[in-house]
Amino acid sequence: MNELFHLGPGSNSPAWVEQLDRDCFTEPWGELADHEQAWGFKNDAFAIWSLHAVVAEAELLRIAVDPRHRGRGLGRALLDACEAELIRMGFTTLLLEVRVSNAAGRALYEASGWKQDGLRKAYYKNGEDAALYRKILGAVPK
Ligand SMILES: CC(C)(COP(=O)(O)OP(=O)(O)OC[C@H]1O[C@@H](n2cnc3c(N)ncnc32)[C@H](O)[C@@H]1OP(=O)(O)O)[C@@H](O)C(=O)NCCC(=O)NCCS
Repeated sequence: MNELFHLGPGSNSPAWVEQLDRDCFTEPWGELADHEQAWGFKNDAFAIWSLHAVVAEAELLRIAVDPRHRGRGLGRALLDACEAELIRMGFTTLLLEVRVSNAAGRALYEASGWKQDGLRKAYYKNGEDAALYRKILGAVPK
């Protein structure tokens, strides 16, 4: 079983996280800010979150699985593990935005019980729309 690791504000990401981040998103996220936390499975996957404790909301900024290990449930397992940590920390609502063309990302979120609740037209620099998703923690998926 994959062991969950955690990175907090000010942490420098391990080299493999930086590489996977650059491979997936071009620009690595860099040092985590005070309101940011990351979890991952060593060498395989990471997820970066922005936490807004006052409103008990956590926004998923990035999630990536090593291309050699995709399609085996790792993304879903990492989201489950992050959610367990966020519930323990008192968060109740999860938010994210994703390119409408990102079929794998959208399939992952929908399989994990997230619901699309909005669309931001021409949100990305290339004019692509962003699909907005939300998940209420503890809610029974319909
Ligand atoms: C999105 C990503 C994290 C998914 O990780 P993964 O480990 O391959 O996903 P899983 O194996 O856990 O699959 C989760 C669900 O999504 C579905 N899925 C995964 N990849 C898919 C694809 N390419 N097309 C359609 N469905 C897909 C799976 O079938 C599964 O659904 P199920 O549980 O109902 O069978 C991975 O593709 C990735 O790193 N992409 C590049 C970075 C990115 O786009 N991140 C999201 C935006 S920040």
